[in-house]
This record gives sequence, C-alpha cells and structure tokens, in this order.
Amino acid sequence: MDEMLIVDYGSQYTQLLARRIREIGVYSRVETPMSATLSENVKGVILSGGPQSVYDSQALKLPQNLVDSGVPILGICYGMQLIVHEFGGVVKKGETFEYGLTRVNFFDDAFFKTSSSNVWMSHGDSIERLPDAFMKIAESEMGVIAGMRSKDGKVYGLQFHPEVSQTVGGMRILEYFVLNLCKAKPQWKMEDYANSKIEEMKRKIGNSKVIAAVSGGVDSTVATVLTAKAVGKNLKCIFVNHGLLRKEDEEVPKVLSKLGIEVKVVDASKLFFENLEGITDPEKKRKVIGETFIRVFEEEAKKINADFLLQGTIYSDVIESAAASSTSAKIKSHHNVGGLPKEMNLKLVEPLRELFKDEVRVLGSTLGIPKSVLNRHPFPGPGLAIRVMGEVKYDRVKILKNVDEIYTSLLKESGEYDKIWQAFSVLLDTRSVGVKGDQRAYGYVVALRAVDSAEGMTASWHKMPYDLLRRISSTITDKISSVGRVVYDVSDKPPATIEWE
Ligand code: XMP
Repeated sequence: MDEMLIVDYGSQYTQLLARRIREIGVYSRVETPMSATLSENVKGVILSGGPQSVYDSQALKLPQNLVDSGVPILGICYGMQLIVHEFGGVVKKGETFEYGLTRVNFFDDAFFKTSSSNVWMSHGDSIERLPDAFMKIAESEMGVIAGMRSKDGKVYGLQFHPEVSQTVGGMRILEYFVLNLCKAKPQWKMEDYANSKIEEMKRKIGNSKVIAAVSGGVDSTVATVLTAKAVGKNLKCIFVNHGLLRKEDEEVPKVLSKLGIEVKVVDASKLFFENLEGITDPEKKRKVIGETFIRVFEEEAKKINADFLLQGTIYSDVIESAAASSTSAKIKSHHNVGGLPKEMNLKLVEPLRELFKDEVRVLGSTLGIPKSVLNRHPFPGPGLAIRVMGEVKYDRVKILKNVDEIYTSLLKESGEYDKIWQAFSVLLDTRSVGVKGDQRAYGYVVALRAVDSAEGMTASWHKMPYDLLRRISSTITDKISSVGRVVYDVSDKPPATIEWE
C-alpha cells in the first residue's frame, strides 16, 4: 500500500496531520527524525512543525536519506525553516511573530487553487532569504514568506498549518501534494488500521493476560472489542458497578456479551455508598470514588494475574501532554481519565491512542459495534454522584436514575439525541413549592442539561425545541411524584462547566 511518511518535530498538530492524510485515504506513518526510514511504499514525506528554532543547540535535523531519496517533501512551519536552513537559505530568529488567522497571498495556482486565503500561523522564527534553488509561492500580508517550492518542483514548504480546520482550503493543499505531486494512491481504509493494530497487539502481548476496566463508553468498548480480536480469551474484562450508573449503563455487560466479550461484574455499590456517606463537597466525592474504584479494581486484578492493562485512551486525551510525542513541548499534564493506579506494575495497551473520537466511532462500526453503543453520549467516571447535588443517598440516586431514563428515552424517541453532544439531568438539593391534585406539594427540583460541543473543552447549551422540553418536563413531574419542578440549564462552557460538580 502507498504511504506518506510524517517526520515529527514535536508539533501539537502532528497527529492531526496524520489524520488528514488518512481522510485523503492514504496510509500515513509518523516517525521521529531519528527513526525515519524510507521504503519503496513511501511516496512522499511531510516534515511537521515543532517548538524548536533551527539555531537551537539541540535542534532536530533533516535526515539526509530523505533528501537523497528524491521523493517529494513538504515542510510545514519548523519543517519549512529546516529545509531553508539546510539548503543554504537564511532563517531569521524570532522578530516577526505571527500567531492565529493571517491573510496570505498565493502565487502558485496549481498548488493553492486560489490567489489568497485565511490561514493558521504559529511561528516566531521566519524566512529571511530562500535558498537559490527555491522560489516564493506565498506571502503573508505582513510581508513574511509563507510558502516556497524548489525550482525542480520536488520540495515544498509552508509557514502555516494546512492541517488545522481554521486554514481555509488547507485540505485542498494537502490533497494536491499527496495525490498529485506524490502520486500516492488512496488505498487506506479503517479496516486496515484495525488489522494492523490487531497484529501489533498479537506481537506485543503474545500469550500474556490483559485486564480491562470496561465502562460501556465508546472508547473503552471499541478498545475492548479490538483487543479481544487480538488476544481472545486472554482479555479479562471487569465492570465495576459503583451504584452510580444510569439504567442504560447497567446493560453494558449484556451488550458486550452480544459482541462475544464476557465481562465479570463486580457489584461494589454498597462500599461506594458507605464511603460517600456524609460527603457533600464535589471534589471530595470525586476523590472518594476514584480511591474506592482503585481499591476494588486492584483486588480483582490480583486474582487474574495479568501483565497488561488495556486503556481506551484516544488522541484528544493526550494531545496536550508531553506524552503526545517524544519531541513535543509539555503544555500541561494529562489527567488520568480512567483513575487507575500508576503503581500496578502493569504494562499499558492503548490501541486507540492515535485516533480522534469520530475515527473511533468509524473503527467501532467496522468492528460491528452497534450504533446505539457508538453514538452514546459521554458519561463521567464518578457517575451520578456528581449529578446529585449534596450528599449521595441511595433514594436520591434512584430518583435521578428514573428522571434520566425519561429524559434520555424522550430525546431518543424524538430524534433529538443524535443532534446533542451530551444530555443529562441533575437532582438539586433544593425543594420547591408546587400544587398537585389541589394539594400543596413540596418536591425536588431537577435541572436538565444538553450541550453542543466538539470535544467537551467548550460547549454551548443546546437549543432544544420547546414542545419537546414541555413533554419531557411534564412526563417527569407526572411519573415521578417526588419531583415538583423542572428547569433547563442555559449556560455555556465557559463560564459554566458541562457537569454541575
Ligand atoms: P466538564 O464538566 O469538565 O466536563 O465541563 C467535560 C466532559 O468531561 C466529562 N467529565 C468526566 N469524565 N471523569 C470522566 O471520565 C471525570 O471525572 C469527569 N468529569 C467530567 C463530562 O461528562 C463532559 O463530557
């Protein structure tokens, strides 16, 4: 199969670049400059951006074998500056910063297909003089060289990032480079990703045992089904029921069983409720749940004697951590979403690490996982505990479970569920006066939340149709006598977070 080699100089966007090449239908391989090797399948090379300056004493270099091979090369940002530096041009150190959306004029119709566009810039160093063998093909409104190509048409450079969605026409540029200049054939499909990961896991894991904590979320389900294809019965799945699940989560072991995966259900709800007794502070709730989960999981892990731990980490979980690449700058530490202990002496298996959420859904569908699982809304690890305001009591969790079932089923029935990124209900620790059957009522208040979002980092409240809201509200108050009032949350994130606690 034809492939594109991406040389990673530590850009935050390297995996996004790899994903864009996959979108074009071409297999892409990400390597560090030290490990970059060519094969006859490699039809072209893309040098990523990166946090360094070509003048840094430890600056990562352009591998000579790539230049000698004669395959087309595209350098992006640092990648372009590296080409300029190595081919005899001059890079100017940090005088003209361009960051964010910038207007750029283009002088190569075939490559850009337009005379100007808004593009995403993120650079401190810039090009002062091109090498003799190169010509300028793009310039920013500030007069900075934004694109170049060698006169023989083999090597290209862009100072901006075509892979980010803010760059208008960025995909067109990448497509032209990959399909027309490199002549790579679009032969890659998600099935190939699945097969290569399965083979990779077979080699890595051999006959050892793998333990997985399954939650029924999209990522952990897809990771589990994929890994089961690699190691079969050596995958041992544990589902810890902390009693803070929605009704639909309790069905998870059955759903997985239908997919051929047996799950050991550990009912630890009594322990969780005991440990949560008297706690109202949201952070403390999270801490207690995390610690209790670890204790229960460790106990089960000991019985299984596993060598590997499966985690459904996806690329957005690691994108800003130093772990995103061996060459990238540390922006912030990644917080462990699974909440599992570090000192368990288990080696990690993370087969979805390079994929974005929507790609995970496509992979899941190629593995035969039903849409009803793949399109589920996210659900937080601490579960309903952070949706019951105040102390977590069994009877209040039960009310919320019933409210949630009504809310979710009406959203699904009306077709609204798939238009929403995440929807849930919250049981407040306030009561309010009402009138039911000519009698004074003093019931609980429930808040409904629904948000539109891309990755949960920012979110807007969902413009729910009024008729549907009315139906949801009246069904809840009709069917659940202890609830007297329903409110709809119209807060964006920021300033609010998606969850209430
Ligand atoms: P916030 O409330 O921070 O939520 O705006 C953003 C997204 O993350 C989910 N979330 C969590 N997921 N463990 C998780 O696995 C957690 O502790 C946790 N807290 C929030 C939340 O549901 C939303 O999708």
